[in-house]
Amino acid sequence: MSTTAVPTTAVPTASGSGSAATDKFKGHRVSSDTSPERAAAIYKDVLTKLSEVIYQHEVTYDEYRVLKQWLINVGEGGEWPLWLDVFLEHFVEDSNSRIFTGTKGSIEGPYYVPDAPNLGAKGTMPMREDEKGTLLVFKGQVRDLDGAGIEGATVELWHADSDGYYSQFDDGLGIPEWNLRGTFSTDVEGGFEITTIQPAPYQIPHDGPTGEFIASYDGHPWRPAHLHLKVTAPGKRLITTQLYFQGGEWVEDDVAGAVKPELILAPEPGADGVDEVVYDFVLDPVSEARYVA
Ligand code: DHB
Ligand code: FE
Repeated sequence: MSTTAVPTTAVPTASGSGSAATDKFKGHRVSSDTSPERAAAIYKDVLTKLSEVIYQHEVTYDEYRVLKQWLINVGEGGEWPLWLDVFLEHFVEDSNSRIFTGTKGSIEGPYYVPDAPNLGAKGTMPMREDEKGTLLVFKGQVRDLDGAGIEGATVELWHADSDGYYSQFDDGLGIPEWNLRGTFSTDVEGGFEITTIQPAPYQIPHDGPTGEFIASYDGHPWRPAHLHLKVTAPGKRLITTQLYFQGGEWVEDDVAGAVKPELILAPEPGADGVDEVVYDFVLDPVSEARYVA
């Protein structure tokens, strides 16, 4: 009997894109000026909450060993950036942003890369000649809390392509390095205008331990289509956020819990038939307030 090779469509694996995200993250220095007292209080509370869960469910020794094996597997597969940014980051973001009045933030996720090409106030995102997807003109103004436009504000945009894949985390698919990643600087009125394509919903790679975790509670791995942004200006608080598309699949049921009603776009065809949307960003001043009581 002979077997016929079944052609497969290459997709990024969890360990491929997870390891790339792990390596990028390890390349940055991370530090925090947390006092030893505050750190001790946090660690103690984490252990107390965990112990409560163990007693509440009378977690067995076998279950403890399964957990231990799973934690080891997540690390070995390089999947911690995937798992953490889906299941924990939104709590950190939401808890930290409640005191601010400017544009709402959302999670950064594992796929930000600094220093994307600078394209001025008005430009087209780097994309392949045959980039698939519906064009989108995304424009707006960056303002301070008093409503004044901010000249020279920085708007960084990155997003997935219409297959849901990110450049630099594509597990060898060959997407160009800076594809669908750009940096813009606002004009004298604080304005920017970006031409891009509309991204597709994103499926977190679920062929590894993050996927096992999702299957264990009968969940799904989908995030709604989204644009990632970082917006800042001198003396202003940097906002990291995401924008979603009204009526899009998974907007009501994001695996990463990162959708907020203020962050939903409703593009409409413009005069030339190309979808357009205006979204303005409002930046808080830099604040000394570090911890929310
Ligand atoms: C993940 C990917 C994203 O694009 C995102 O915005 C958030 C999380 C992830 O795979 O973990
Ligand atoms: Fe994303």
